[in-house]
Amino acid sequence: MRRTNYVDAGHSFSFVYALIGIASSTASALLSTSSPAWQQNEAAAPTKTKFGPLADSDRIFTNLYGRHDWGIKGAMARGDWYKTKEIVEKGHEWIVNEIKTSGLRGRGGAGFPSGLKWSFMNKPDDGRPKYLVINADEGEPGTCKDREILRHDPHKLIEGCLVAGRAMGARAAYIYVRGEFYNETTNLQVAIKEAYAKGFLGKDACQSGYDFDVFVHRGAGAYICGEETALIESLEGKQGKPR
Ligand SMILES: Cc1cc2nc3c(=O)[nH]c(=O)nc-3n(C[C@H](O)[C@H](O)[C@H](O)COP(=O)(O)O)c2cc1C
Repeated sequence: MRRTNYVDAGHSFSFVYALIGIASSTASALLSTSSPAWQQNEAAAPTKTKFGPLADSDRIFTNLYGRHDWGIKGAMARGDWYKTKEIVEKGHEWIVNEIKTSGLRGRGGAGFPSGLKWSFMNKPDDGRPKYLVINADEGEPGTCKDREILRHDPHKLIEGCLVAGRAMGARAAYIYVRGEFYNETTNLQVAIKEAYAKGFLGKDACQSGYDFDVFVHRGAGAYICGEETALIESLEGKQGKPR
């Protein structure tokens, strides 16, 4: 596994980035159509509850309260990394269309349609490498959503990185995590390591023929670095100022 806290700033200007907030990167959960393994596993299934129109089967995150194993064994029992190879093999057009029709919107503030945003990146290759950047800065006071995903459901995010990355033709994802989130970053790194060990990431990710890496970068706790252009500056090793 390759880990990094730095990005080579010397190459930064030729890079093409897609920056998406953390909640919209969890697309793969929406893509599974047949019954996942966790639905057959009574032991792993949480007690049935219903709040308003949201059925249990519609829930994307199933371990937000940290009651179950966040590691790869527990994550796979809950349906993560299920048929990911098949999803990746379907290709960018199929994935982008699924996201468009799902109605998924960003959680970074503007509620921008995720499928449309992903399609912007899906242009004919001009030779420049593309990177997916995940905004896990979560600096807004009182906001506590991304941290629960990072520490309790990290595999959902990592699998989402691969699917989103494939949809955009990105070669790697950089997850930018708020500096104060030490424990969250640790869990995320462990989960990434587990995914590499299983062959879900790296060369020929999930045996799909697609190469994809995931890197984690910790910020230094500056609120402004949650703004997307400042985030990319910071990621590139420069001062975190908006472009
Ligand atoms: C000052 C400032 C701080 C921001 N902080 C965050 C943040 O902590 N997390 C986040 O997801 N988006 C933040 N945003 C919005 C991002 O610029 C960007 O629109 C968002 O990450 C897109 O996410 P989406 O694809 O989920 O919509 C911030 C914007 C501004 C202006």
